[in-house]
Amino acid sequence: MKNLCLYDDGEHKYYLLGWEETEEGGLVPTNQYLIVHGNKGFLLDPGGAHVFPRVLANVSEIISPKNIEGIFYSHQDPDVSSGVTMWLSIATNAKIYISELWVRFLPHFGVYDKRRVVGIKDKGNVNMNFSGYKLDFIPAHFLHAPGNFNVYDPISKILFSGDIGVSVLPFNKRVQMIEDNFGELLEYMEGFHKRYMSSNKACSKWVNMVSKYEISIIAPQHGTLLKDKAARDFLNWFKNLKCGVDIIEEFYGR
Ligand SMILES: [Fe+2]
Ligand SMILES: [Fe+2]
Repeated sequence: MKNLCLYDDGEHKYYLLGWEETEEGGLVPTNQYLIVHGNKGFLLDPGGAHVFPRVLANVSEIISPKNIEGIFYSHQDPDVSSGVTMWLSIATNAKIYISELWVRFLPHFGVYDKRRVVGIKDKGNVNMNFSGYKLDFIPAHFLHAPGNFNVYDPISKILFSGDIGVSVLPFNKRVQMIEDNFGELLEYMEGFHKRYMSSNKACSKWVNMVSKYEISIIAPQHGTLLKDKAARDFLNWFKNLKCGVDIIEEFYGR
């Protein structure tokens, strides 16, 4: 699928980058997002080494990688961040933004230049200034990583939610975005959230916090985007979800 523009007011744009056209054996499919303001770009979870050529091609259709000023990583997982050295070598003016918990792990991916890495403190960072616009880095800890952040864009009102709100759909059932019928997506969401999310305490804390934002779209790192009513329905479901340590007996099986 081609790049999908989710928001465009002429100056500010928000893209879901294109998906691979064929199933890539056993690979978890991932979503990558690009915010463009004027001629500057900001990448959200651009993904692992395996998808780098495809994501770079998608980005290059929209802006020059040299104009990327920031790359955000919601957490440390390989499907999120293992392409980091490739991006640093191509997007030569970009800084990396990631939880300060993971900064010391980046050298394991081959990142040694600390001047290009900004560690996000646990409380997050609202009103982060980029070229002519602001972003909020908001905490989403233990959902699932212990150091984990979302990005809220006040212009488009899109919440990039990382691994929160993801759906794991069979390749032939992939849908880019829904507004209604959230219930039909649940069977592709429930297992992942119950196993990966840490506890209802973390879920409800996060829902209370993000509910203060006006949200047009919840944009997760995997699967279908949740627009308007579907976003609200997801928040209501997630707020009450029992998961992780709440149901730990299920995972031990004895
Ligand atoms: Fe993850
Ligand atoms: Fe993920």
